[in-house]
Amino acid sequence: MEKQTPIPPTRQMPTEADVAAVRAHFLDFLSVQQQYRAAIREVTTKLEILNDEFQVRHHHNPIHHIESRLKTIESMIVKLRERNLDIDFSTAQKHLLDIAGVRVVCCYVDDIYRVAEILLRQSDVELIRKKDYIQNPKPNGYRSLHLVVRIPVFLSDQTVMIPVEIQLRTVAMDFWASLEHPLRYKLRDEIPEGINEELSECANEIAAIDLRMQDMFHRIQNREQKND
Ligand code: GTP
Ligand code: MG
Repeated sequence: MEKQTPIPPTRQMPTEADVAAVRAHFLDFLSVQQQYRAAIREVTTKLEILNDEFQVRHHHNPIHHIESRLKTIESMIVKLRERNLDIDFSTAQKHLLDIAGVRVVCCYVDDIYRVAEILLRQSDVELIRKKDYIQNPKPNGYRSLHLVVRIPVFLSDQTVMIPVEIQLRTVAMDFWASLEHPLRYKLRDEIPEGINEELSECANEIAAIDLRMQDMFHRIQNREQKND
């Protein structure tokens, strides 16, 4: 008689109840993910509209470019663990305000505050947190304006309020942050002596150049206005 090889537990067909439970979780998860994606699109569209209007009215694009990302499940788990919270999606929704993230890279420092102010004046944008790392840079020199806003996403049968973290920075600040980020990752918090100080010095020099570039831009803009 032919010998039957037992099916390993991982290859056994799931029961109908197993499938139903997983499907329910999966659909919940996918629909919530879709809401965060919609919120990113809304914020991005608002910013693009502002940028276009600025071009028409002031002949200047305050926004150089916009990036966005949805937090990965791996990164949600890391953060929930760090905070000793339960590892599930509803806890993540409640406690993580940066599942939806939009980075607005502006041309000049003034543009950051102007874009932020105009966005926050919109009636459907609710500010829930603001951290100004330009006025108060981090010890390593990190600069950016961080906002967490809540905006409504209109679904077929309900309206949900979704938080979005918006980081606004200049091209120059973005240059520093983009190069510093992998360094920090590589060092895993074991930062050799003097590195934080040197990073901070670089950030200060970059900030000084940022202001010089802005000043030049203003002088040129004033001249153009006089000539008009
Ligand atoms: P976490 O999101 O858990 O870090 O807490 P938080 O929201 O209080 O943090 P924070 O306001 O410091 O901003 C978080 C985000 O800003 C990070 O995910 C990075 O994208 C960015 N950020 C903050 N500090 C630094 C920094 O020193 N270097 C770089 N490159 N990015 C930073
Ligand atoms: Mg954050």
